[in-house]
Amino acid sequence: MTGVRITEVGPRDGLQHEKALVSTDAKVAFIDMLSESGVEEVEVSSFVPAKWIPQLADASEVFARIRRAPEVVYSALVPNERGLDAALTAQVDKVSVFVSATEGFSQRNTAGTIAEVLLRIQPVVRRAREAHRKVRGYVSCVVRCPYDGPVDPDSVASVAARLLEMGVDEIDLGDTIGAADAAAIESLYKGLEGVVSAGATTLHLHDTTGRATECAIRAAEIGVRSFDASAGGLGGCPFAPGSAGNVATETLIDALIERGFSVRASADRLRAAGQWMRRSIASCASSEG
Ligand code: HMG
Ligand code: MG
Repeated sequence: MTGVRITEVGPRDGLQHEKALVSTDAKVAFIDMLSESGVEEVEVSSFVPAKWIPQLADASEVFARIRRAPEVVYSALVPNERGLDAALTAQVDKVSVFVSATEGFSQRNTAGTIAEVLLRIQPVVRRAREAHRKVRGYVSCVVRCPYDGPVDPDSVASVAARLLEMGVDEIDLGDTIGAADAAAIESLYKGLEGVVSAGATTLHLHDTTGRATECAIRAAEIGVRSFDASAGGLGGCPFAPGSAGNVATETLIDALIERGFSVRASADRLRAAGQWMRRSIASCASSEG
């Protein structure tokens, strides 16, 4: 059976979007549950300024307190060299840099043009590799941008090519606002031909219109073998109006297994972890309000 790899992004993409500030204790408990679910990777947090994402200001403490399973990779978002210093001190296994395929989102999400952001992350990729860390290169807004509208797959391919030249190990394609349908996924991968094979990418879907699972299945048929997803469908980007949660990990796993793919992680454990975190968020919100 063909295996598919899952990165659980709930602790980062999920919690960055919640108004409630979830306690460090709850994050650590959530990540420990995710580690026990069998996922291959957990995106734990982001080393970004607290004024940009206050929800993830405790990234170092979370890394210090989680129980690390030897077969799980623990990664984090890193926007610049200062973030990298903190991430290396926290002993992250893998560093994720992120660039938009569009200028509008690049300015709003990372305070710079695409060219400026590529320059900013170049030393991050170099130093992460020197420190023997794997590097993931996200390209955001691969289908539609909340500021610039529809996105030409060629723009995605050109940013992906720059990231690969820099030396990232993996390209992660983000449908940031969940605009894709199966046809858009086909066009996206057609545009990437000659730059990166489908099997060397990860697909990061948000489920704004309920089509994320169908997009993932189309992508798996095309050859994608790695997906990001979030237990309970938590998630979204605060700088992308209209973005909704990531595709729910448990739903994605059920759909992949139904189509004959094999997945290491347990959908039931992920469903339970997502429900547990939703209850924690609800109890934060009621105690704040
Ligand atoms: P900036 O404000 O231009 O940064 O932001 P700066 O270099 O001017 O620094 C501003 C302040 O932050 C300074 O402090 C710095 O020292 C400090 P001050 O002098 O004002 O006291 N600072 C830091 N502090 C802690 N950690 C750091 C750091 N760097 C600077 N690493 C910057 C530029 C790139 C930092 C900012 O725009 C940023 O971090 N943006 C990221 C925002 C973010 O996390 N967005 C969500 C994630 S992306 C996403 O969700 C999409 C994805 O899911 C895929 C998809 O769906 O498409 C990945
Ligand atoms: Mg996202």
